[in-house]
Amino acid sequence: MTSKYAVILAAGQGTRMKSKLYKVLHPVCGKPMVDHVLTQIEKNDMDQIVTVIGHGADMVKDTLKERTNYVVQAQQLGTGHAVMQAESLLGDKDGMTLIACGDTPLFTAETFSELFQYHQSKGAVATVLTAHTEAPFGYGRIIRNDLGIVERIVEQKDATKDEAAVKEINTGVYCFNNRELFEALHKINNDNAQGEYYLTDLMEVFQKEGKVVAAYQMKDFEESMGVNDRVALANASKVMRLRINHTHMKNGVTIVDPENTYIDSDVEIGSDTVIEPGVSLKGNTKIGSECVIGSHSEIIDSSIGDHVNVTSSLIEGSVMHDNSDIGPYSHLRPQANIGQGAHIGNFVEVKKATIGENTKVGHLTYVGDATLGQEINVGCGTVFVNYDGINKHHTDVGDYSFIGSGSNVVAPVKLGDHAYVAAGSTITQDVKPHDMAIARGRQVNKDGYYDKYPVAKAAQKTADAKKNN
Ligand code: UD1
Ligand code: CA
Repeated sequence: MTSKYAVILAAGQGTRMKSKLYKVLHPVCGKPMVDHVLTQIEKNDMDQIVTVIGHGADMVKDTLKERTNYVVQAQQLGTGHAVMQAESLLGDKDGMTLIACGDTPLFTAETFSELFQYHQSKGAVATVLTAHTEAPFGYGRIIRNDLGIVERIVEQKDATKDEAAVKEINTGVYCFNNRELFEALHKINNDNAQGEYYLTDLMEVFQKEGKVVAAYQMKDFEESMGVNDRVALANASKVMRLRINHTHMKNGVTIVDPENTYIDSDVEIGSDTVIEPGVSLKGNTKIGSECVIGSHSEIIDSSIGDHVNVTSSLIEGSVMHDNSDIGPYSHLRPQANIGQGAHIGNFVEVKKATIGENTKVGHLTYVGDATLGQEINVGCGTVFVNYDGINKHHTDVGDYSFIGSGSNVVAPVKLGDHAYVAAGSTITQDVKPHDMAIARGRQVNKDGYYDKYPVAKAAQKTADAKKNN
């Protein structure tokens, strides 16, 4: 088998993005563009992958980690110059080399594989991946001779009017004979409109030497979309979004409005789950089967079991076990762990807390830094008071307990199993199992208060006078 190498070009600043963030790190469906490129290349069983870094080198390394080797291009003198930096790692190897840019996030592993096959079948030293588009502006154009053979690639800025009219574009992806590639790179110059060493000039070098240059035209131009500015970023994100949503639908997920459902690349969803319009599922999120994720919910880096209902809620860094439910309008902050069958109702915030099996936290409640057992009822408007202004403290509530509405449970404190808290209590001391705590002022009724209180009487008089007028 022929060895397969890849070089990913990712050293540019991306001036046209007008951003502090380096271009190849801009996310498309939650994943940096260059990560998309690497992920699809990796699927081709590669022998070695080299990424050329420059601007934002450390951040790119932090993103891609050990998945690739790196070479640094200190000055961005063009795509040809960028590939040349990989010579120290790849120059003396036999095999074929795929080159892709870090700003073309939509290419699929299948397309790369087709390119390898085509390149080999043609016995070419260089094969450029091309696409047809009615809007070729900005791309390099493929210039073929009368026999249809690729002679060279002309950049937009160097193109004559006739050349600019060509609708076959360079996708920026190529396959080369590895040794020929590094040999030929020494033969290009920067005599062009941008004063750069163009990788694309290699085609002409090979052509003049009588070597076979091939072009493989892919069917789907969209897949080759290069992102140079924010408009293209939005366009690429839309293509990726629909691609992701279609994959989930094919796998048995109902997506009511795929145009308006935002699912990041690595999200997993079980079959017969229904995703309503406007939902965002982000990062490392996993959703089980037969769930309903209601309109405008947002779920980030969280794990949701089977048969879970989420209604218009925000869930971050949390776990919801099977048959639990939440919402409308509730918020799970990081490290909320919602037990099987547990119910989180409306206007509830949970943070760093475990809610046991079948426990109910129905309305207007804050649970922070707490461990709640199973089958507990937490009444409306309960506050787990976890912060003294300096430190956070923990509360434990035993199984089958009942916390009356409007209570403050001031941590650190422990409530045993089957403990009761009377409504309106402020609990500052532990409650033993099976006991009830009442911690509020006793009710006092004032007999005949109205008749004795002059202000109230005066107000009544004014009201009566108005009525009679
Ligand atoms: C390039 C191609 C063009 C093609 C288009 C496809 C050249 C000369 N032109 O143009 O024919 O149609 O891609 O999207 O190759 N980079 C470096 N170091 C450099 C310059 C660039 O690493 O010195 C990297 C960039 O980070 C980027 C990639 O190479 O990821 C492409 O560079 P870019 O400037 O975007 O090239 P285009 O003008 O889009
Ligand atoms: Ca580009």
